[in-house]
Amino acid sequence: MEVKNKQFIEFCKSLNYEVDMFVNSVKNCNKHVRINRHFINEKEFQELTELLDEIKLEKVNWLDFPVYKVLRGNPGTTFLQKFGFIFVQSLSSILVGLLLQPKENELILDMCAAPGAKTSLLSDLMNNKGCIIALEKYKNRVVSLVSNLTRVGVINTIVLNEDALNFKCNFKFDKILLDPPCTSLGTYNGFKHFSFSRVKKAQEMQKKLLEKAKNLVKDEGIISYSTCTLTIEENEEIVEYGEKELGLKILNEYQLDVPNAIKSKHGIRLLPWIFESEGFFIAHLRKEE
Ligand SMILES: C[S@@+](CC[C@H](N)C(=O)[O-])C[C@H]1O[C@@H](n2cnc3c(N)ncnc32)[C@H](O)[C@@H]1O
Repeated sequence: MEVKNKQFIEFCKSLNYEVDMFVNSVKNCNKHVRINRHFINEKEFQELTELLDEIKLEKVNWLDFPVYKVLRGNPGTTFLQKFGFIFVQSLSSILVGLLLQPKENELILDMCAAPGAKTSLLSDLMNNKGCIIALEKYKNRVVSLVSNLTRVGVINTIVLNEDALNFKCNFKFDKILLDPPCTSLGTYNGFKHFSFSRVKKAQEMQKKLLEKAKNLVKDEGIISYSTCTLTIEENEEIVEYGEKELGLKILNEYQLDVPNAIKSKHGIRLLPWIFESEGFFIAHLRKEE
């Protein structure tokens, strides 16, 4: 495929990423589903999938959590999806929730929540206990958020149609998930709309949202920062801004060892041509007392 976006080509050169490899790996990356444990356990799931000739799945063995790679077919069109037994989500996106390790008794804020892939995973990991507040600025996206959370039986989440920058409350959160809008280079067709002015605009918003997260998290609380893009400006520079300007501590030890991830002092880069899922960046920051 011929890539015409000159600014994207320039971006790739700046990081020594090979343009065709980048685009092809994003387009052809593996698809994954996770089991929704609110409704079904792994044994029941395996029995049901044996009834479906049109799909073939393979378990991701290095995870404790039930995630499957799609080898054939589209599980998203089967009854497994309709009945809320599965959530179609990239392995990279699933890792954001797994690495954060939310607990049953915690109060979690998901600042940019729609369409709810990560919110619903947090709820699953919390066994539908504790409380998640899920914010989404745009009404039309709240519809998809609520519909997804309802489909998979989430009952520990309060959805608010609010701009996270204006969100006020008189308590603080144990953990915050900040998955802000970004240039989406790690996802299908993200490269087509790429421009340096979009990067700058996204970065400005990401900084504001991180500052807001800092004000809303408890002392010693954790902020998970993630994007589905691969620019330094929207990832490492944001984390550095958190450290230098906001006084947050970058944490670079994770409970889970992710094979084929590129780890640095800032966080984890998941490169689609190495990790074979969507391109992502994940970092953890702690608010010091
Ligand atoms: C990258 S997407 C989040 C994906 C989501 N975390 C998931 O895993 O399904 C970013 C979301 O943030 C929303 N958004 C953008 N600006 C926002 C703001 N200021 N406050 C709250 N939500 C915002 C967007 O509409 C979009 O739905």
